[in-house]
Amino acid sequence: MEQNDNITRLAHDLSRSRKAIALTGAGISVESGIPDFRSAGGLWSRYDPMEYAHIDGFRRDPVKIWNMLREIIQVIEGARPNSAHKALAELERMGILSSVITQNVDGLHQAAGSRRVIEFHGTNRFLVCLSCGFRAETAAFDTQNEVPRCPSCGAVLKPDVVFFGEPIPADAMREAFEEARRADLVLVIGTSAVVFPASDIPSIAKEHSARVVEINLEETSLTGTIADYLIKGPAGQILPQVVSTLKTLRNGES
Ligand code: APR
Repeated sequence: MEQNDNITRLAHDLSRSRKAIALTGAGISVESGIPDFRSAGGLWSRYDPMEYAHIDGFRRDPVKIWNMLREIIQVIEGARPNSAHKALAELERMGILSSVITQNVDGLHQAAGSRRVIEFHGTNRFLVCLSCGFRAETAAFDTQNEVPRCPSCGAVLKPDVVFFGEPIPADAMREAFEEARRADLVLVIGTSAVVFPASDIPSIAKEHSARVVEINLEETSLTGTIADYLIKGPAGQILPQVVSTLKTLRNGES
């Protein structure tokens, strides 16, 4: 019963919101077949992130890191947006959601139709050269059968995603923090909220009087502290129910 009450509560919060934003993590893409990082069986249970997802490790042995990257790219290429991504795109179309700040690099929010997406950890859609700055679409390379090399200088290319030890893209950081300061409602969806500075976004919004609502399978460090309430369950089931409840409210009000 509590979940249904909180779904109705969130629909009311969204209908009253002047500026709602979403912060999403790997959990929103799990129902698209992309494993998250820290749940049981997640990517970091098979690869040590400090060895495989740190920029120093990539510089030291890029070919080894590509053994993991190849697996991630293959999974992402086969993934399609799920009903959670589509629900957020619908909230944007309804004029309710101002932006999605995502930690994900899978491009599924854009594929679902979201237009204002801030890619806080970069994107798998492009490869970059750390030596000469060359940048090109990942699709232009056969990453499943060969380690992609820069056509200009021959260095091993790297996905344009933020590795540990790398800075957040300046534009993404500035835009995301500006959105957080101006939001009056933040949906925190499918993130364990343990990686800084993305994990600061809900706190910044809260400091500016925003309501913070989590949608997650389990509690996180935000639950009962920064978050006003948690709707516990799969985002792919919860968000469509929130949208349909919101539409009913709006029809009732109009
Ligand atoms: N619906 C809602 N939440 C879910 C679902 C689901 N179907 N499946 C999993 N979750 C939740 C998990 O309970 C967990 O809290 O999603 C969260 C995923 O947490 P992580 O695996 O830590 O992913 P994320 O928070 O995005 O990680 C942040 O860490 O490794 C870096 O750069 C990487 O962007 C990533 C960052």
